[in-house]
Amino acid sequence: MSLKVLFVASEAHPLVKTGGLADVAGALPRALARLGADVRLLLPAYRGVTARVPDLREVGPLELAAAPPARLLRGRMPRSRARVYLLDIPELYDRPGGPYTGPDGGDWPDNAWRFAALGRAAAALALGKADPRWRPDLVHAHDWQAGLAPALLSLERERPATVFTVHNLAYQGVFPWETFRDLALPWELWSMERLEYYGQFAFIKGGLACADWLTTVSPTYAREIQTPEHGFGLDGLLRHRAERLVGILNGIDHEEWSPGRDPHLAARFTRRTLGRRARNKAAVQARFGLPAHAGAPLLGHIGRLVEQKGADLILGALDGLLAHGAQLVVLGSGAPHLEQAVREAAARYPGRVGVHVGYDEPLAHLIEGGVDMFLMPSRFEPCGLNQMYSLRYGAVPVVRRTGGLADTVVDADEAALATGRATGFVFEAPEPAALLEACRRAIACYRDRPADWRRIVLAGMAQDFSWRASARRYLELYRRALDGRSRAAPGGV
Ligand code: ADP
Ligand code: GLC
Repeated sequence: MSLKVLFVASEAHPLVKTGGLADVAGALPRALARLGADVRLLLPAYRGVTARVPDLREVGPLELAAAPPARLLRGRMPRSRARVYLLDIPELYDRPGGPYTGPDGGDWPDNAWRFAALGRAAAALALGKADPRWRPDLVHAHDWQAGLAPALLSLERERPATVFTVHNLAYQGVFPWETFRDLALPWELWSMERLEYYGQFAFIKGGLACADWLTTVSPTYAREIQTPEHGFGLDGLLRHRAERLVGILNGIDHEEWSPGRDPHLAARFTRRTLGRRARNKAAVQARFGLPAHAGAPLLGHIGRLVEQKGADLILGALDGLLAHGAQLVVLGSGAPHLEQAVREAAARYPGRVGVHVGYDEPLAHLIEGGVDMFLMPSRFEPCGLNQMYSLRYGAVPVVRRTGGLADTVVDADEAALATGRATGFVFEAPEPAALLEACRRAIACYRDRPADWRRIVLAGMAQDFSWRASARRYLELYRRALDGRSRAAPGGV
């Protein structure tokens, strides 16, 4: 009998995506299914999602406390055999805007209700109360939006094992006591050992305090979140649970991200046909209104424009970068002041800086396939997927040594260059000067030592970050969670 796993997440590619969580929730179930697991995903039926799910049918009505009437639907993930359950509550999910924010960019005021319903539906499914034909052995919940599932299940005797993955500790789902009361959550959950958090309550604590096992998305981040610097107030709890915390690096989805068969590129290429890559560079320059200088180092950045990602560090280093003759393209959306700042940079340096404020997946692929260097100066980065896409697409990453960036990019120092291990350029301080210095090293190599540059590009493209190895580690953890609930973590962090 295959292992039955219920994934609970608030976004999943290709149905709904704001960031890397969707990439993981879309790809990891497929990788686990290939290893023989029966994985099903539970997702809110946001506007437009139902129309994108093939073979959709109603499982039945669901009664959830503190939520309007709900229905559970079941269908398939597009282009896959994996099953998906949609939690259909039109009053909560069928509206314009994003999964977390309204059209004006602000959080939905009823997010606590929207994601409490998700946690409750997950618990119902987990206990065999929602789909009479399927009951999971294990529930794998992701980020705060799914945090109530392990919390509610922790109150049950007969329940599946629970695993909670932290994709980003900065987002915690903190709400006032009155909300806890109005949600009619069980009183046992109002304690410091469970959801209570300095007089308020935090959905993420439902996962961190109540799940049988915790994971996060890179080994380095698993260590970092146990320190005050990266713990966002939760490092004490995480140190307390250190034996149950494992760092498993994310994979990337080779079906979506392979330069040899990517429909979004101007020219597809492999390690053997690297010369064709120049056509993508020209296409990126054209898209962003930059002159088609084949020899100018073309730098790129893609990401949510938020403090975490350090776009402000790029802007702080901009004058220096341009003085080295570089061109820069930025694709992103997020905080209004950062959107404004990147727009201003483009206006100030026409023909040298190109900016697209918005969310554009095909363009993200073209950028990865065309830029010479990909900048990721994140202040913290639980895993980061873009640097792995960059490695695979021959865009040499320039990254800060933090979280998953530290675990995936090998700095091109003399020793690493000599042994052929170098895949990028790494710096330490979260400051424009440190980023600029790393870019200066990269640009010097690109210009003056083309043979070294080529080795770095080819070494990056040869890395294997496919999901297979990570999915095996999750399976191993699931088995531990199921059979020896008291044993220590495989390998620890
Ligand atoms: P995070 O999850 O913190 O946003 P990741 O690097 O893990 O960071 O994942 C980001 C994902 O979102 C990648 O797949 C990236 O290509 C995509 N992405 C982010 N911003 C944009 C954008 N403006 N347009 C297209 N794709 C984007
Ligand atoms: C989060 C993190 C990112 C990670 C992604 C998927 O959004 O910010 O680093 O790659 O989740 O795990």
